[in-house]
Amino acid sequence: MLPKIFAAAVLAHGLGAAVASPIAGRADASSDTAFTHNVTYSAAVDVNPAFPIHESCNVTLQRQLTRALDETVTLAAHAKEHILRWGGESPLCKSWAGHWRGSNATQETVICDLSFAKRRWLDATCGLRYTVVGSPLNTFWATDLLHRLLHVPQISEGAVEHFAEDYAEVLELAKTDPAKSALDSDAIQYFAIDVYAYDIAAPGQGCTGEVEEA
Ligand SMILES: *[C@@H]1O[C@H](CO)[C@@H](O)[C@H](O)[C@H]1NC(C)=O
Ligand SMILES: *[C@@H]1O[C@H](CO)[C@@H](O)[C@H](O)[C@H]1NC(C)=O
Ligand SMILES: *[C@@H]1O[C@H](CO)[C@@H](O)[C@H](O)[C@H]1NC(C)=O
Repeated sequence: MLPKIFAAAVLAHGLGAAVASPIAGRADASSDTAFTHNVTYSAAVDVNPAFPIHESCNVTLQRQLTRALDETVTLAAHAKEHILRWGGESPLCKSWAGHWRGSNATQETVICDLSFAKRRWLDATCGLRYTVVGSPLNTFWATDLLHRLLHVPQISEGAVEHFAEDYAEVLELAKTDPAKSALDSDAIQYFAIDVYAYDIAAPGQGCTGEVEEA
């Protein structure tokens, strides 16, 4: 079983799967030649998401969610590669005591309309004044969806929990209780976006930001 992604607003509006396209009738064979890519004017979505997306999401939402899920996989995969490549040698691993769990998934998560207005794409990491320390974890689709997926029991196997509340607490936890830190939902997200920023978004530099002294 894999997760279904719901668009809360679509469900709330009670639209369900009733998204038959009113312009489907206009599509005809001759129109195919007018585009460099195929346009079918159908409500059937031609996207290949990494995870199944619920049919209550319309095409517009499905395209964005597909990209968001792809970015989540990119983010998680890079964090894993960073650990495998550098292990304990990585300065980031040293402060994060990183650890990664499997990629299995089950159950469902609800995504509200507001997400579609606010979440940024991973390419914006280190842009728009973003810092790992100073900005919310859910700034990006990838961190937000990673967070959601970590709460899906068959991914986390019930092991990933909330132990720390913010960046400073997450760092403290990594120092004082590394075993717990490796299973902390926020620590995993901070680690993932921090190494993505350092390795990819702003190579060799990152955008961690300043940790306020307690
Ligand atoms: C898709 O659903 C969203 C959220 O309900 C809505 O804002 C948008 O207008 C819909 N798009 C289409 C093409 O129906
Ligand atoms: C578009 O689809 C039609 C019918 O499925 C196919 O014959 C045609 O080659 C496709 N065109 C492109 C550009 O993919
Ligand atoms: C996912 O979980 C199912 C059921 O527990 C298991 O059969 C499958 O091998 C798992 N897949 C991965 C990639 O871990």
